[in-house]
Amino acid sequence: MKTAKSIQEIREQVNHLKSKGNKVAFVPTMGALHDGHLSLIRMAHKYADAIVVSIYVNPEQFAPHEDFGTYPRTIEADLKLCKEENVDVVFMPDTETMYGSGKKYFSIDIEELNVHLDGGSRPGYFQGIALVVNKLFNIVNPDIAVFGQKDYQQFRIIEQMVKEFNHSVELLMAPIGRAEDGLALSSRNAYLSQEERALAPSLYRALTYVAQQIENGVMEPALLISHQQDELEAKGFENDYLSVYSLDTLQPVDKLSAGNKYVLAIAAYLGKTRLIDNLILEI
Ligand code: PAJ
Repeated sequence: MKTAKSIQEIREQVNHLKSKGNKVAFVPTMGALHDGHLSLIRMAHKYADAIVVSIYVNPEQFAPHEDFGTYPRTIEADLKLCKEENVDVVFMPDTETMYGSGKKYFSIDIEELNVHLDGGSRPGYFQGIALVVNKLFNIVNPDIAVFGQKDYQQFRIIEQMVKEFNHSVELLMAPIGRAEDGLALSSRNAYLSQEERALAPSLYRALTYVAQQIENGVMEPALLISHQQDELEAKGFENDYLSVYSLDTLQPVDKLSAGNKYVLAIAAYLGKTRLIDNLILEI
C-alpha cells in the first residue's frame, strides 16, 4: 500500500494505476475509520480494480463552535485497516496542500438541496463539503467514488454537483453500516459515554417505528413523528429534526403518496454528540 501527501504524488500514483488499465475507485473520508467506512472500501473493490482512500479532516466543513479540534484522529490504526482492506493508495494531504493556494475568490453555493436537514441546521457545512469533494475529485480524478447512505444529504448534494459541474466520476452509495443494536456507525460515536451509548439506539428504533407505520398505511405521519420526538426528548435526547423528505429534492413532505421515494431522516443530540440516521422509503 502506498501513501501520498502531495498533489503531485497522488496524481502520479493514480496515473500509474490507470496506465496499467485499472479502474480506480475513490473513498473520501475524514479518518477514524470504522466498519461503515470499510464497507465502502469493500463495495469499491466490487466495482473497481484499484482503490484510493483519502483521510483529511476538512476544516471548511466545521463551524467555529463545532468539533474540528477534538474530531478523532487515529491515523496509525486507519492505515493498518486500509492495508488489511487492500487499499492501493491512501491520500493524506495537510491543510497547506488542500487550501494553501488560497480560498479567496471562489466558493460553492448550494440551493434547494441545502435548505433542510443538516443543511438547515449547520450553515456552511455542505458548502465546505462540496468545496473539498470538488477539489478531491479534481486532484484524484477517479473513475468511481463511493459515499455512504448514512449521510444521504451529502450523497444527494455531491450527486447534483457531479452533474452540474460535469465531473466524469460515477457515484455509488453504500448502505448504512450499523452496530448490532442498530446504531449507525459513526466516528463521533467515540464521544458517547457508556450511558449515552446504551441510549443511542433509541434513535434508530424511533426511525424504524415511524417507517413501519408508514408501511402500514399512515400517509400523514406528522403526529406520529412528534410523539416519537417527545419520547426521545424524555429519554434525554435534544431533537433537531425527524421528518420525511423527497428523496430527490430533499424538501419536507407532509402527505405521502404511492409510487414515490422518500428519505425518513433524523438528527438529535445526545449530550454534546450529534447523531444522524435515515431510512429510504419506497411507497
Ligand atoms: P466521514 O464522516 O469520514 O465519512 C466518509 C464516508 O463514509 C462518507 O461517504 C459517509 O457517508 C460514510 N459513512 C460514515 N458512516 C457510515 C456508516 N455507518 N455506514 C455507511 N457509510 C458510512 O463524510 C465525510 O467523512 C466527509 O464529509 C467527506 C465526504 C470525506 C468530505 O470531507
